[in-house]
Amino acid sequence: MSRIKDASLAEKGATRVEWAGRQMDVLRRIKGRFSKELPFKGLTVGACMHVTTETANLMLALKAGGARVVLAASNPLSTQDDVAAYLAAQGVEVYAVRGDSTEEYHANIGEVVKAEPDLIMDDGGDLTVAVHKKGNYGKVRGGTEETTTGVIRLESMAKEGALRFPMVAVNDAMTKQMFDNRYGTGQSTLDGIIRATNVLLAGRSFVVAGYGWCGRGVAMRARGMGANVIVTEVDPVRALEAVMDGFRVMPMEDAAREGDIFVTVTGDRAVIREEHFRLMKDGAMLANAGHFNVEIDAAALRKYPHRKLRDNVEEYEVGGRRLYLLAEGRLVNLAAAEGHPAAVMDMSFANQALAAELLTRKKLEPGVHRVPPDIDREVARLKLESMGVRIDELTEEQRKYLSSWKEGT
Ligand code: ADE
Repeated sequence: MSRIKDASLAEKGATRVEWAGRQMDVLRRIKGRFSKELPFKGLTVGACMHVTTETANLMLALKAGGARVVLAASNPLSTQDDVAAYLAAQGVEVYAVRGDSTEEYHANIGEVVKAEPDLIMDDGGDLTVAVHKKGNYGKVRGGTEETTTGVIRLESMAKEGALRFPMVAVNDAMTKQMFDNRYGTGQSTLDGIIRATNVLLAGRSFVVAGYGWCGRGVAMRARGMGANVIVTEVDPVRALEAVMDGFRVMPMEDAAREGDIFVTVTGDRAVIREEHFRLMKDGAMLANAGHFNVEIDAAALRKYPHRKLRDNVEEYEVGGRRLYLLAEGRLVNLAAAEGHPAAVMDMSFANQALAAELLTRKKLEPGVHRVPPDIDREVARLKLESMGVRIDELTEEQRKYLSSWKEGT
């Protein structure tokens, strides 16, 4: 049984999922092998992920590998209802309707918990926490986590001894964060802002809060569009990197006065808050590309007079100036656009598929685990191959040199 908006949208979903699948060569190869080897035969995979065309390709790869797949949305505004309808028609149990309330969002996750999954696939940590809260983690062999915020939550669970099964931090694979977090977030965040507002970026002051992989990508792409980029950070090493990458770095209190467009990508709460709203220029636009809608203090904004101006744009009047909040402060790239492009999700979801397969073969201790480097390298190798890019191999002489400490100048 699924809970979706409208089953008649399945046909539209089918062609969109097919379109994304054409850019996902690595995942397609893995799916081909899964359908022969059936690594998930007899197992239930419970997932909490953004219901997009790319996720659909991952869910269908797991299904081809013999799994029963139960999927809940990992954000109420990222669900693509046609994709949910198509997946349901393909026999995936889906609990997701775009625009779900917070209660419905948690009820969807509750359905995944009720399905008693053997493996979980999480994006943000809410499913992992729900499984632990319900106390029915006995059957769970382990799971995978897609995003930075989720890995941070897992690490704090592990530190308190609360994590009862192994979780593979897919987010931290090099072929995930260097590409998905950087180039994926970089492109899709601008895509979301532009689709929501049609704003010209050239010549604008564009403030990026946070200079992790996601922030680096957003800053780099905004500069590419001609914006004057300002970075805010709390970590001195990252701040220094931003300075040497050629960006202006300053506290949010100063950036608030200068910015035309603000994007939060920190993973922390209240990064832009009332004291900053009160300093902003008329017309400033505020968007979030971090996992949860906590980075911009929207509750503080809602105290001011406001109205919906167009899809994904709310206008707030703060001290006689107009501020625009995009996509309710939720992930702007998924709520106002379609998330990261399929070609980059290909690598993230190849890691997901291979990490899930690893959990069927290997018993790991409860705790947070890295994606094994051989999986990371294999994903990179397959991606290069699919792009028609060839690289060198070490010669025997070079291999020997690298393994010997005796040879110097
Ligand atoms: N996270 C960011 N972009 C995504 C996408 N296109 N599909 C699923 N999860 C995502």
